[in-house]
Amino acid sequence: MSIECEKVGGINLAQGVCDTEVPQAVREEAHHGIENGINSYTRFDGLGALREAIAQKLRTYNGITVEPETDIVVSAGSTGAFYCACLALLDPGDEVILFEPYYGYHVNTLLAVEAVPRYLTLRPPDWNFLAGDLDRAVSTRTKAIVVNTPGNPCGKVFSRVELELIAEFAIRHDLFIFTDEIYEHFLYDGRSHVSPASIDGLHERTITISGFSKTFSITGWRIGYAAGPARWLRRIGYMNDLVYVCAPSPLQYGVALGLSRLERSFYEGLSLEYSLKRDHICAALRHAGFEPYVPQGAYYVLADVSSLPGKNSKEKAMFLVTQIGVASVPGESFFHNGGGKDLLRFCFAKKDAELEEACNRLKQLSFKAEFLAQPASGR
Ligand SMILES: Cc1ncc(COP(=O)(O)O)c(C=O)c1O
Repeated sequence: MSIECEKVGGINLAQGVCDTEVPQAVREEAHHGIENGINSYTRFDGLGALREAIAQKLRTYNGITVEPETDIVVSAGSTGAFYCACLALLDPGDEVILFEPYYGYHVNTLLAVEAVPRYLTLRPPDWNFLAGDLDRAVSTRTKAIVVNTPGNPCGKVFSRVELELIAEFAIRHDLFIFTDEIYEHFLYDGRSHVSPASIDGLHERTITISGFSKTFSITGWRIGYAAGPARWLRRIGYMNDLVYVCAPSPLQYGVALGLSRLERSFYEGLSLEYSLKRDHICAALRHAGFEPYVPQGAYYVLADVSSLPGKNSKEKAMFLVTQIGVASVPGESFFHNGGGKDLLRFCFAKKDAELEEACNRLKQLSFKAEFLAQPASGR
């Protein structure tokens, strides 16, 4: 969709790339890192200063206590951390439960290590699930369950009650929990983030994965991490060393110092700024006749585009990009069995001016659609 968008010089609401400002503290400190000679390989599990800063953040924001010396592996983004965790802890043939709609990299990473995804389809409009859904997805070969909160693409923020249900289930079946919390600071309508590892009984079996791509708008820096019990993190560290050696050292330094310089207000500001963007795009989608599934967190919105021409979500996405120059992701990319035909995902992590233009184009579409829907004699 990004390529199609470029062809028509459109606005790209397809890819999850945030083009908002990188915080000054993070930019400055990365620069200092380069100037101060932090340009060699770091230890396989990351710079000490960054592991310390992550441990501090995990303690204060996530309610998780870990040892920076043994329980954290800094990797090439949360993508790298998830890949290394899967390589280290899964064997070919292991089944892993995945909530659907899913994030494509989770599926493809599981397939790359020859694990077998077992899908649990969430129920719209709130993307809920029941205890029975978990029971139906489990087998004797199940080794892990993947949680993504706040989630891409549906913006679900798992509640404490839901996580307690998952905890009881994971303990009963002796499963790992891999939790991707990359959108942990993008929360709307007063919701708070609950990390699965902070739930009673889960610390021992949870690998918490997150990173700074989204929070600091540094998707190209590739700084993320996995955290959890030392015995699992040691194995994840071996894989990280083998696959990546280390994440870029001066950029690790920038994130470490940036983390210690930025105040709580920065993170609160993110939720506020993005909730305004969310409201803006949801209003424009409604105006265009596409009912949005209003996200609770993260920075994507799924919308029902059944009124658009096209027999599947790809054709509908193509119609939109060619007619009004707004790119989105076809809903079928988030379901394994042909679901999502009437859904498109729009990313709203855009600068205000660009988002405004995309919203105006969507609103214009509603006028075009009304025009097209009128019988010829009535025009
Ligand atoms: C759910 C989820 N996890 C991970 C990532 C990628 O994060 P990173 O840049 O840290 O690899 C994305 C990016 O879109 C995402 O949506």
